[in-house]
Amino acid sequence: MQRFKIIGTGSDVPDNVVTNDDLAKTVDTSDSWIRERTGIGARRFAPADAATSDLAAGAVRRACEDAGLDPAELDAIIVGTCSQDTIFPSTACWVQEKLGVRGMPAFDVMAGCTSWLYGLKVAADMIAGNPSMKIAVCGAEMFSKILDFDDRRTCVLFGDGAGATVITGADTDTGLLASNWGSDGTLASILKIAAGGTAKPASHATVDGREHFVYMEGSKVFKHAVTAMSSGMLQALSDAEMTPDDIDVFIPHQANKRIMDACLDRTRIDGDRVFSVLEKYGNISAASIPVAMDEARKAGVLCEGHTLAVTAFGTGLTWAAGVLRM
Ligand code: UT7
Repeated sequence: MQRFKIIGTGSDVPDNVVTNDDLAKTVDTSDSWIRERTGIGARRFAPADAATSDLAAGAVRRACEDAGLDPAELDAIIVGTCSQDTIFPSTACWVQEKLGVRGMPAFDVMAGCTSWLYGLKVAADMIAGNPSMKIAVCGAEMFSKILDFDDRRTCVLFGDGAGATVITGADTDTGLLASNWGSDGTLASILKIAAGGTAKPASHATVDGREHFVYMEGSKVFKHAVTAMSSGMLQALSDAEMTPDDIDVFIPHQANKRIMDACLDRTRIDGDRVFSVLEKYGNISAASIPVAMDEARKAGVLCEGHTLAVTAFGTGLTWAAGVLRM
């Protein structure tokens, strides 16, 4: 068990709501196709002059307010994202700039949609070494800037948003009761942005080839997502010596309702325990679990003492799952 306490949560999503019908005005798609295949009804898109760090800074600021902390009191800022502001520096450093804080370490964790859970595990290890640390772990994405709106297979799926948690050491039985994480790099090519890094530096040809946008082999990703999320969750439950009935709230990564339903089927967790923001925000990648956690807390669904199950998968392909006691 990794002991810590979540002392604050916060989230930030753009005001601009883009419904399926809005998208269907410019993309060859329909509300019924998107709802039936994904469970998504709308998503939020940020303004053209915003960057991922704007949403991340908003979420971290709100999580700090919730924890009764000034952001300057944080001992580390970890941002999980795959839609970073810049190749370098890290989005976490841009977040520091926007919060007007300096000194504490700030760095990104890149594991696609799994990034927030990876970040939480890194933060839990840091706290094990120094329980007095207060660490902000944020999942933040701005997919509206990296989607190919000529590719209907991907552009209808994702949205923008950020969620953050502030954690610190605790001597209570709270924190990660059990967790696991992993990755299979042999599947790296099925979900990627091909150009803009050292493998394929930006050029006129990469821009013309639309290689700076999300590329995904959807049905392959779907299959691996179900397997990875379910087996990770079952392993975490078994390691925590718990059954599905012990779970008060289940927040799986919210990419697609069919993936979530398949996970429920395989893990036997009761569907009534799922808290979902998928219908209104779409797939917000690394932000999906912390945004849902924040909204579940504020709605009184996720409370102190509750047992929370989380599981995710993402580009890499990465996965992680955990059983948390709030
Ligand atoms: O966090 C990681 C995120 N990744 C994911 O969550 C992706 C996991 N994969 C999926 O969720 C599914 O594979 C999709 C939702 C992406 C696609 O669903 P699918 O049932 O695998 O559809 P498909 O790709 O097999 O396409 C079926 C049909 C095709 O038409 P034809 O060839 O049968 O005539 C597509 O061209 O649906 C068509 N199609 C669309 N039609 C209307 C694909 N996208 C759309 C669209 N609107 N947006």
